[in-house]
Amino acid sequence: MKILVIGGGGREHALVWKISQSPLAEKVFCAPGNPGTAQLAENIAIGVDELDKLLAFARENSVDLTVVGPEQPLSLGIVDLFEQHGLKVFGPDRGAALIEGSKAFSKDLMQKYDIPTAAYGVFTDLAAAEEFITRTGAPIVVKADGLAAGKGVIIAQTCQEAIAAVRDMLSGNAFGSAGSRVVIEEFLTGEEASFLVITDGKNIIPLASAQDHKAIFDGDTGPNTGGMGAYSPAPVVTAEVHDLAMQQVLRRAVDGMAAEGRPYRGVLYAGLMVKDGEVRTLEFNARFGDPECQPLLMRMKSDIVPVLLAVANGDLSGLTLEWHDQAAVCVVMAAEGYPGEYRKGDRIEGLEEAAGLEDVFVFHAGTSSKNCICVTNGGRVLGVTALGSTVQKAIEKAYRGVARITWPGVQYRKDIGNKAIGRI
Ligand code: AMP
Ligand code: GLY
Repeated sequence: MKILVIGGGGREHALVWKISQSPLAEKVFCAPGNPGTAQLAENIAIGVDELDKLLAFARENSVDLTVVGPEQPLSLGIVDLFEQHGLKVFGPDRGAALIEGSKAFSKDLMQKYDIPTAAYGVFTDLAAAEEFITRTGAPIVVKADGLAAGKGVIIAQTCQEAIAAVRDMLSGNAFGSAGSRVVIEEFLTGEEASFLVITDGKNIIPLASAQDHKAIFDGDTGPNTGGMGAYSPAPVVTAEVHDLAMQQVLRRAVDGMAAEGRPYRGVLYAGLMVKDGEVRTLEFNARFGDPECQPLLMRMKSDIVPVLLAVANGDLSGLTLEWHDQAAVCVVMAAEGYPGEYRKGDRIEGLEEAAGLEDVFVFHAGTSSKNCICVTNGGRVLGVTALGSTVQKAIEKAYRGVARITWPGVQYRKDIGNKAIGRI
């Protein structure tokens, strides 16, 4: 089969890495890809939002299966477009991708189908929002309704801060049209987990548990990012928590989407808050998490291609996924300044030394190749990922890889995975 992966980040490097190991994959393309995917696939210089060009490429090259990594092309309707032209594609269509594309839609779905989540309100009017904030009290959470690359969520410590955030969003200054509607919700405490499943709209296959590290600095401090590291399995997801999440969150979401006339096919990612054995839903994403995808795919024993193809064909029945017992940890190495304005174009040293380490794989994200030299070209630059017999061992190996790599201004968290150790 010829398989096209859409995207150019660490998640897509991991997808290309896993897909290219399948005996079913004769040829893998990645659009636009990065220097990491170029080592395993043919990179195609088409952007993730250039749907017509992607379609033309897939048709001209007889692509048998397209796998969509990021949310933007899903929300733009790439799946609808490819399916209209008879092409097989893995991911939710535009109507179903709204579960991530609109936080108001997603919260209303949770409320309607009794999926546990924080109390909330949806507002387009500042006065009504102010009234809700004053009545609820701080801390309180303000979210831009639309896509904001994981940055549209403000945890406000005071009512004034929350009102200022709402004013910024509604005026269009903060997130453009994504902020013209806001969700304001109760602040939840507990420990977060990323719970991902693959579904055809009826059958659900859970992936292994994972935990992300959203804040930029150690100890979960500083502003939120797309994710500074992840590990799997996540001990906070006990067998009981797993069953609860499947019954109360994922099953209800998949059935709810079908009942809404938006059958969901693809990866459905629930961001969960776990406290005292109870589970509440923070958000849904319509795709693999980045960086969760990197450790998850390193732990996946089964061939992923039959599962992706079965979802594209609309029937997952009879399929399962097997996992390696080992733990996996991914440490993201980021550019100076990220998640704000960041440096670019710095030469990355030590990639080969890190790649030579046993059980370590360096996934590229924001890199580019200049005269055959790898340089930084994004906020999150690399995801150094390692397998180990325990989370502790995987952490040690991942940081051994990190220690080999450097560039001016490199930053990374030193505490990825520590919460898991605290629990074992
Ligand atoms: P979201 O994109 O909605 O998952 O929000 C991004 C991050 O903000 C989450 O991973 C949490 O760390 C935090 N967050 C979102 N909603 C809440 C909430 N209701 N209470 C506490 N933290 C939250
Ligand atoms: N790592 C969080 C996300 O992909 O949304």
